[in-house]
Amino acid sequence: MARHLITSAIPYINGIKHLGNLVGSQLPADLYARYLRARGHEVLFLCATDEHGTPAELAAAKAGKPVAEYCGEMHDVQADIAARFGLSFDHFGRSSSPQNRRLTQAFAARLADEGLIDEVEQQQIYSPTDGRFLPDRYVEGTCPNCGFEDARGDQCDNCTKQLDPEELVSPRSTISGATDLEMRATKHLMLRQSAMKDRLDQWIDSKVDWPVLTTSIAKKWLHDGDGLQDRGITRDLSWGVPVRRGDAEWPGMEGKVFYVWFDAPIEYIACAQEWVDAGKGSDWGRWWRTDQGADDVRYTQFMGKDNVPFHTLSFPSTIMGSNEPWKLVDYIKSFNFLNYEGGQFSTSRGRGVFMDQALEILPADYWRWWLLSRVPETSDVEFTWETFQVDVNKDLADVLGNFVSRITKFCRSKFGEAVPEAGSYGPAEEALIAELTERVARYQTQMDAIELRKAAQELRAIWAAGNEYLQAQAPWSTFKTDPDKAAAQVRLALNLIPLYANLSAPFIPDAAAKMLRAMRVADMVWPENVPEALALLPAGHGFEVPEVLFAKISDEDRNAWSERFAGTRD
Ligand code: MF3
Ligand code: ZN
Repeated sequence: MARHLITSAIPYINGIKHLGNLVGSQLPADLYARYLRARGHEVLFLCATDEHGTPAELAAAKAGKPVAEYCGEMHDVQADIAARFGLSFDHFGRSSSPQNRRLTQAFAARLADEGLIDEVEQQQIYSPTDGRFLPDRYVEGTCPNCGFEDARGDQCDNCTKQLDPEELVSPRSTISGATDLEMRATKHLMLRQSAMKDRLDQWIDSKVDWPVLTTSIAKKWLHDGDGLQDRGITRDLSWGVPVRRGDAEWPGMEGKVFYVWFDAPIEYIACAQEWVDAGKGSDWGRWWRTDQGADDVRYTQFMGKDNVPFHTLSFPSTIMGSNEPWKLVDYIKSFNFLNYEGGQFSTSRGRGVFMDQALEILPADYWRWWLLSRVPETSDVEFTWETFQVDVNKDLADVLGNFVSRITKFCRSKFGEAVPEAGSYGPAEEALIAELTERVARYQTQMDAIELRKAAQELRAIWAAGNEYLQAQAPWSTFKTDPDKAAAQVRLALNLIPLYANLSAPFIPDAAAKMLRAMRVADMVWPENVPEALALLPAGHGFEVPEVLFAKISDEDRNAWSERFAGTRD
């Protein structure tokens, strides 16, 4: 038994997330956490809302609410949807927590003491009309690269170029629309990432088992162009963690806050403190401090590829630069993007399916299975209603659901609602048990390696093996000539149901629980020994025929949904 710390990239507070966000971090992290718990490991699985930065302020303004109130409400909304998706966080924290404020200020003080923070004077856009500086998305204007007229101060949505607000042509304030903007001098803190370059380089080089997607992005930022750049870690905003040097004022930094990407990853640590303060745990240092036992912890992070630079370079700079005994990440699992019907998911345009809408039309397990079995591991993946329909109908309804319903109904009609006693296993049964033993071992190997598509493929094959066995042995025919033999076939097939439930629970927890309830099995127990697990239900053990596990998706539904989600959220 080992100890596993698992974090998912923390979702921005500004609205309900779409399925592309979900599949790139929270959902695969949940799969892994559930799997490791099922294998008996001690797991701390943390996530939170990312509540600072201009997106939060702007979304609050749009909703006509004070930003703190907006964040509080949206946090609860996201927590509720996450729970309904079965995301099994041990704690779902908030980057705006007092714990994170203190920790962020303490890290900044440590880094300054280590000589890793420079104070620099910069020219930034100031709006006399609004009486404030306009960082990041507070400025819009024409993209200098492609001429798009609604480019944002941090990035052009049309050509994706990363921008600084001062590069925009004809800039305007997104608060007031004012165009009488001027440049004014303001002081900011820069984290001297360039001074950390060699340490980061060696550290990344030592991670030979990391996904290429992760290391290639880290290497690119370390070596392309002028190499790793120092990074501004403060902003002229009012919402955020106030810039302080630990408990002390930071002269010249009054009224400024830390940049959202500085405080957000620190929330991974603060979240463990929140978990303790909420009375759910007793010792966060055991997970995060190498001087308090965290050396024994394996720490895995999950994220989309756009987040990789912040987790391979920026956050490790904070951790390493502090020269304090913090736990560094052991493995970074990153994902490509999920696209939607030939284009991108778009939060602003409401294109694609959002988490709340997904649950309005189908239970979580349908989505969990599709998203996880098609998770964009090696390249971008496209969601289409067609593939969704085909996969759900085939894997969940025809293979798994049909197996369960067919064998329980057949048993009920011929032997009653209890596991039949007669007959003994022959070569076909031995062969199936041997095949499943091998497949379960492979499934575990893939899950341990976080090779999620391969794991899903193996699970699908495990389900299919049961159907093929039934098809080939046909107990309904055997019954006519040799009822005892049919009884043995039914006994083995019924025992596959709890095996399937336990193996499938990390992917489809609700259906797995239903299967166990129907078989009157009280606890989830991982089948460490497959032949033993297949003898779990003894002769005479009662069961019920469960209600339909998975309904098929009709062409009508598919067409209606594809129309409904084509654009502009309702
Ligand atoms: N909110 C960011 C996003 O959705 C992720 C932040 S992850 C953390 O892209 F490292 F900052 F915590
Ligand atoms: Zn552009």
